[in-house]
Amino acid sequence: MEVLTSTKTLSAELMTLEDRYNAHNYHPLPVVLERGEGVYVWDVEGKRYYDFLSAYSAVNQGHCHPRIIAALITQAHRLTLTSRAFYNNLLGEYAEFITQYFGYDRVLPMNTGVEGVETAIKLARKWAYKVKKVPESEARIIFVEGNFHGRTLGAISASTDPESRRGFGPYMPGFIVIPYNDIPALEAALQDPTVAGLLLEPIQGEAGVNVPDDSYIPRAHALCKEHGVLFIADEVQTGIARTGRLLCCDHHGVKPDILILGKALSGGVLPVSAVLSNDEIMLTIKPGEHGSTFGGNPLACAVAREALKVVEDEKLAENAETLGRVFRARMEALQQKRPDLIRLVRGKGLLNAIVINDSEESETAWNICLALAENGLLAKPTHGNIIRFAPPLVMTSGQLEECCGIIERVLSDWA
Ligand SMILES: Cc1ncc(COP(=O)(O)O)c(C=O)c1O
Repeated sequence: MEVLTSTKTLSAELMTLEDRYNAHNYHPLPVVLERGEGVYVWDVEGKRYYDFLSAYSAVNQGHCHPRIIAALITQAHRLTLTSRAFYNNLLGEYAEFITQYFGYDRVLPMNTGVEGVETAIKLARKWAYKVKKVPESEARIIFVEGNFHGRTLGAISASTDPESRRGFGPYMPGFIVIPYNDIPALEAALQDPTVAGLLLEPIQGEAGVNVPDDSYIPRAHALCKEHGVLFIADEVQTGIARTGRLLCCDHHGVKPDILILGKALSGGVLPVSAVLSNDEIMLTIKPGEHGSTFGGNPLACAVAREALKVVEDEKLAENAETLGRVFRARMEALQQKRPDLIRLVRGKGLLNAIVINDSEESETAWNICLALAENGLLAKPTHGNIIRFAPPLVMTSGQLEECCGIIERVLSDWA
């Protein structure tokens, strides 16, 4: 296998520079990107790739979507940040727009996905004390094994991934972690009257696109209702059309009590996240109790509003649903051909993964991703032997066919 960097002087130089001065908290594929448009990105040598990661599902609307960039530029010339010390002319309009879009009473705007998660945890705790009357400092939140909610101390305290946790203790108390996709375990955990909420991803993206049984999400939601516990959905990765519906929970007819969104809320243009809920929950937080300097800034409001309009106008959920079916059918046929190499194919909409038939520690998935990159398609292994495929949702069926062809060629002949 040719090493990508050997022939690419500028790329090699830039990678060396980054490795020399940047923290070593990521292990990127050796590709240096400088431009993006729609489903494509280009490296510094001018080679074009299909982006099959979409910045971990932040670029659902495609790279540099002209309408979103226009909204960004127009607003950037007017006003970018006021802080919430004052009102700004866009926040009210945006709050009305996003709450109506997702069907909630209120929104709490933040920036990164993990801030949305932290906000939801705080909101659930506050609600537990104010409404559910849990004794002070005793509220607990249920999480599930294999979760990924980001990198703050709160999020890693709930994590079961040794790499995310190791060396960062002590961890935050008040969290219960149960197996995913396990209703009896949830029923048992819900017996505890101090439980405020169940916080989960309707499909676990980082864990390798783990799709639970069809009955799991509706059953978990019903059990939460029965026990007076908030059902909190982290749709930072699964939300905003990625899985073929506006929200992944829509596949199950479930409306979360608290909904966390991020990533594609800005089309990947700047960090914008949001927590949505009804009045009973949201109004438990009073002025001065929670916030963020950048949360709800006018630039973010203008960008997020346009990014959500694009999702609707371009019918991206429908496209993800249709193309996702084609993609899985092609990959399943490939799996039948190479069961020695591909253990299984799974996903919903355009959030899919193939599990490579090798140990978690093996280099096979990484090497396949290098070969895919050589052939003009960028994807990245998650958790060793799993390759996630999540292209921008603006992909056409012709482009998808071409991408399936690339993956089939690389994998069919894999030695
Ligand atoms: C489900 C989920 N929640 C939260 C996060 C954290 O988002 P951010 O990296 O913007 O903090 C991620 C990021 O991958 C995610 O996939």
